[in-house]
Amino acid sequence: MDDFMLGTHDLAQFLKQDRKSLHLELKEKNINPVISGGRLYLYPKDVRRYLTSCDYHYPERQIVSVQMLKGGVGKTTAVVNIAIRASQFGLKVLCIDLDQQANLSLAFNQKSEERAVWVDVVEDKATVAETVMAISPTLHLIPSNLNNSVLDKTLTTGGRNIGKAVSKYLNQIKDQYDLILIDTGPSLGAVNTAAACAADLVLLPINPDKFSMSGLKKTMEELEFVASEFLERTIPVKILFSRFDGRESSAHQLLQQCYQEFTEQMMHNYIRTSSELKNSIMQGRSIFNRRSTAKEDFDLVTHELIALNQRHDHQSAQIETRID
Ligand SMILES: Nc1ncnc2c1ncn2[C@@H]1O[C@H](COP(=O)(O)OP(=O)(O)OP(=O)(O)O)[C@@H](O)[C@H]1O
Ligand SMILES: [Mg+2]
Repeated sequence: MDDFMLGTHDLAQFLKQDRKSLHLELKEKNINPVISGGRLYLYPKDVRRYLTSCDYHYPERQIVSVQMLKGGVGKTTAVVNIAIRASQFGLKVLCIDLDQQANLSLAFNQKSEERAVWVDVVEDKATVAETVMAISPTLHLIPSNLNNSVLDKTLTTGGRNIGKAVSKYLNQIKDQYDLILIDTGPSLGAVNTAAACAADLVLLPINPDKFSMSGLKKTMEELEFVASEFLERTIPVKILFSRFDGRESSAHQLLQQCYQEFTEQMMHNYIRTSSELKNSIMQGRSIFNRRSTAKEDFDLVTHELIALNQRHDHQSAQIETRID
């Protein structure tokens, strides 16, 4: 099945409705699902049409930069899966790969050696619009490649305003999107400073280990410094606990410690360890086309982030969470 369509079974689950009554309502509203493998799927634009007709309120545009000094904690994994899920629900999503490793571009099966990337925009060799590629009608990508490895140097020389090196260009296209997700490399360099300054929210994935905790504290200190140096506001952060293995007592301890120490900043939902996350990338498919804990977790995390609620229903503003 098209990775970028939403199964009606998933929509029914989101609406806490049985599938049959959903199918009837879709028919009444002249929205026709597509059949594949005996299941019914909806195009994102039809999901949006249906949810809007049910008085669901699509969120204000949000720019989220996913950052963490420590490598391999699940930054790219978070961007890919939140982007796919949000786009399946009809949000117009832009992903920006600012990491020279270009793992995000590879995860979307894009070979981008020949393409214009962010460094070309900053050096006035390409417009930001020229860097955008469509992965699906509701999911776009600004890819990366090794040329971005000089981005930090480009930003720190020639008197450029680092604080505006992402926001200035993003302003030219951001109106087209509901959600912009920026994937960054494991550093505290100028590129990541620029990404943080452009963001409404910085999402900080961490793993249940001591090194992650020290990486988290260092990254948070840096974000405070960046805000004081470049912005007249603070940078809101959310911490996403990733690779949680319930069989390890140390994982429980660290999770508890995080909720105590960073009560306000913790995402309510977290990501469990799942081989499905690696397998899906290797096989070039989405995690959302079959059942897994990874699918469950990223579904909850995405909805916590995008907060797609019914206007009149204050109850539904209470995001479904695993942890109170
Ligand atoms: N919850 C998880 N369970 C199991 N494996 C995971 C999980 N999250 C991520 N991984 C795997 O861990 C590896 C690193 O993840 P990812 O590339 O997302 O990290 P990253 O923070 O973006 O790394 P980098 O700092 O190098 O950019 C990948 O192989 C990914 O599939
Ligand atoms: Mg990465």
